[in-house]
Amino acid sequence: MKKFAIIATLILSTAVVFMSCKDKRSPGSVYMPDMAYSRAYESYAERDSAVFTMNPADAGHKIFYNNLPPAGTIKRGELFPFNVPNDSNGLLNLSNQVKNPLAPPTGKDLEEAGRLFNINCAVCHGPKGEANGPLAAKVGGVKSIIASSPGFSDGRIFFVMEYGQNNMGSYAPQLSREQRWRIVQYIRTLEPKAAGNSPASTEVKKDTGMAAPKPEIVKLTGGRAG
Ligand code: HEC
Repeated sequence: MKKFAIIATLILSTAVVFMSCKDKRSPGSVYMPDMAYSRAYESYAERDSAVFTMNPADAGHKIFYNNLPPAGTIKRGELFPFNVPNDSNGLLNLSNQVKNPLAPPTGKDLEEAGRLFNINCAVCHGPKGEANGPLAAKVGGVKSIIASSPGFSDGRIFFVMEYGQNNMGSYAPQLSREQRWRIVQYIRTLEPKAAGNSPASTEVKKDTGMAAPKPEIVKLTGGRAG
């Protein structure tokens, strides 16, 4: 009996030694798969299509994961999105109620905004916003910014950069929200002083509700890009 016990112990321990010599990353026989295989998404791991899906309709059977941040996510330090819809109502009414979220610019801010204006806008609008940039004749229909801007609220100028207007495309993919709001501030410095600096950029009066300068309808182009 004693002999039998010794032999049995020997066989068992050899078996244990052999089992433990297998691939270290393999859990061996799995009795509870949920414990052995994590269903949490691991950044650089291969995505197992039996477990994860990019199709929201499959969520429930599988784990929905598409690498994108949830809708409405705002990156740290980024300004809130401009939520005015791209239609003439948004342009004429809602955009006028959006205030410039930035503090008044410093000299450095204006210098940077001027640099961005000269890169992105001056080709058509000219360095002073007078619609005389080198591309103005080619593009056609370029309007003088400084002729209109004294009557435009900050939100309306931002709206034009967000969505574009007729022959002008959206500048949302090229310029961050902060850069675009700074350009609005820069445009204010281009306006002729005698015209009274930016009456429409100040707060919209509560009793009128809206500060639409003129009830014109402008054909809008371009989709929301960012
Ligand atoms: C490719 C040429 C082009 C570029 C570059 C361009 N625009 Fe324009 N922009 C236009 C045209 C054309 C119009 C006139 C649209 C229309 O018919 O209402 C316009 C109109 C505008 C208006 C409205 C003027 C009004 O009276 O309705 C503003 C404000 C404006 N642009 C600002 C900018 C700013 C700021 C930039 C740079 C970020 C810029 N534009 C870059 C072509 C351009």
